[in-house]
Amino acid sequence: MTLSVNDISQLFNRAGGELYGGEAITQREHALQAGWLAEQSGADEQLIIACLLHDLGHMLFGQGDDDLAQGRDDLHQVKIIPFLRGLLPPEIIEPIALHVDAKRYLCHVEPAYFAALSDASRTSLALQGGAMDAAAAQQFAARPHAACAIALRRCDDAAKVVGMTVPPYEYFLPRLLAIAETAGAQ
Ligand SMILES: [Fe+2]
Ligand SMILES: [Fe+2]
Repeated sequence: MTLSVNDISQLFNRAGGELYGGEAITQREHALQAGWLAEQSGADEQLIIACLLHDLGHMLFGQGDDDLAQGRDDLHQVKIIPFLRGLLPPEIIEPIALHVDAKRYLCHVEPAYFAALSDASRTSLALQGGAMDAAAAQQFAARPHAACAIALRRCDDAAKVVGMTVPPYEYFLPRLLAIAETAGAQ
């Protein structure tokens, strides 16, 4: 059930050209922008790769505009996790699993954050349970990988720019391979 790095590369090739639901860029562009923005912000290698792969669930299962239009939460951040365990370390897996909750958290703690969300992201927020309440936000903030999930989320939100110049997937591949090799050896 676990994906290999080769499987991930094929997904980027095969499904990366599909539109990132509700936005004017492709899944591949969104992923590369997120990874690149993480690198530019000084993030460590693991967070860069987490950003690159955060929406792999959309590529593996297909992201419907359908889902948004039909009022369905596709749970892409949860459904991808079994496919990554065994390949990548928790420092990558957990922020990916928490990237939707990080949005719900930020909507609670930063009123300006919600106002800045894209239309598609606002629509999916409603399907994902809306902004957290104070108790849920407190619980989220106490989770071990919450800070990385929030950092990932900020790169995610900024990675929707039409025409941004970013390095190709192959630029990130050696780091993904190195991390997978290390995690696999543990
Ligand atoms: Fe996502
Ligand atoms: Fe995303």
